Amino acid sequence: MYMEEKISDKIDLDKIEIYPEPPAEEPARQYYFMAKCRNLVKKFERENGRIPKACVVNFGCQMNARDSEKLAGILETIGYGQTEEENADFVIFNTCTVRDNANQRVYGRLGELKWYKKRNPGMKIALCGCMMQEESVIEKLKKSYSFVDLIFGTHNIYKFAELLYTLLETGERVIDIWKDTDKIVEELPVERKYPFKSGINIMFGCNNFCSYCIVPYVRGRERSRQPEDILNEIRRLVKDGVSEVMLLGQNVNSYGRNLDRPVTFAQLLQETEKIQGLRRIRFMTSHPKDLSDELIDVMASSKKICRHLHLPLQSGSTRILEKMNRRYTKEQYVELVHKIRSRIPDMAITTDIIVGFPGETREDLEETMDVVRTVKFDNAFTFIYSKRTGTPAAAMENQVPKEQVKEGFDRLLKVVQDTARSQVGRYQGNVMEALIEEVNETDAGLVTGRLSNNTIVHVPGDASMVGTYVQVSLDECHGFYYMGHCVGI
Ligand code: 5AD
Ligand code: SF4
Repeated sequence: MYMEEKISDKIDLDKIEIYPEPPAEEPARQYYFMAKCRNLVKKFERENGRIPKACVVNFGCQMNARDSEKLAGILETIGYGQTEEENADFVIFNTCTVRDNANQRVYGRLGELKWYKKRNPGMKIALCGCMMQEESVIEKLKKSYSFVDLIFGTHNIYKFAELLYTLLETGERVIDIWKDTDKIVEELPVERKYPFKSGINIMFGCNNFCSYCIVPYVRGRERSRQPEDILNEIRRLVKDGVSEVMLLGQNVNSYGRNLDRPVTFAQLLQETEKIQGLRRIRFMTSHPKDLSDELIDVMASSKKICRHLHLPLQSGSTRILEKMNRRYTKEQYVELVHKIRSRIPDMAITTDIIVGFPGETREDLEETMDVVRTVKFDNAFTFIYSKRTGTPAAAMENQVPKEQVKEGFDRLLKVVQDTARSQVGRYQGNVMEALIEEVNETDAGLVTGRLSNNTIVHVPGDASMVGTYVQVSLDECHGFYYMGHCVGI
């Protein structure tokens, strides 16, 4: 883990005066509580002869992963040691609720934590993230999971230090969920997983209200960060060794619209491109309805923007797309991909597809498979529709029988795998640049790299190569990844 260097690093917690009243303004208020927590951690150290250990577990998307890095940064600042073992002194689950199986996994893992806590009664358990924004979840936790000590949601994550202090000081359970916020707090500590690459939130929330999706309800309305805050964060990251950034938002194409001085996403990319020392720019996620010609132009002329676009299709049936409230037709989607590919032929396109949306027939699924065959995605993440309470789709009639969904899902997966294999494999024998990200988990003689188009390649190598850019020969395509070898730097 790598602590990001930022203005906040210059704040010495030991020098913060702990007046009886905390400051009202942020982030000063949170640093005050970090200093107070640190005193409690030091007390723990004196009493136990060791530092307490904290474990942050992430369940969700890349936005959640970035939030988890912020939680880890605060815990590190307070003085906790980090561990991946869940029988730690402090465990926090950053949850996801986009599909029900994510929720079920959290309940399952909580059952395990209960046993750890029986053996270590001083252990503290916390839950945060999207799942906590659902009232039914909070009711269930209150009733049946009394061993959870701290619960907060997505809107007040910046108050983590303050909430943790209340828990550590009083020993009483703390539950704090906000319905919404318009606040974005800058300058809190962050601890990155990789020294050489980083996600960066450019906006929070979503205004699209796709009818199946719970995100707008749990993440709130769209809020963009100021471009200067984003660019300064990237400049700091680059100074700190980062060469690849991933700009994160639920719908990056509508970035900047609600700022006092509106800016387009394409303009933000152009400014990002100018940052010296930065080599790769990625972003996620793009909504097809908002992808502008301006953005295609900027991508086409950029040397740093990676040749990868994640463009969720969700369904290839115009009838279903309308019920999903996606605001594009099958033809418009295919036309958009055509336009992108004609300007940028080597652009890899990946997508998300939902199978089993209410009322979906076999014919509708055929339309989806038709788009997959026409577009030839480099990868497609296929999901079985999950009914989310409170969304318009949950109240729709004609929920599709499980058997039919399963059968359709398997057929779609086969088409996706076949087209992706031939699409990804089209570079076999070529030499391309890869950023080496890690030593291979199963074979220590291999390292794993990522091409600009997001394809993974495994090459012989060692830990000294991690974080470097190398030229690799793509020898053999194995579906979604390559085996290759390094031919130079
Ligand atoms: N059921 C299944 N998949 C969903 N997604 C979002 N909501 C649901 C749901 N209720 C998928 C979409 C989205 C991805 C992040 O998760 O495909 O693009
Ligand atoms: Fe959900 Fe649609 Fe917003 Fe994506 S764009 S987060 S699918 S509502």
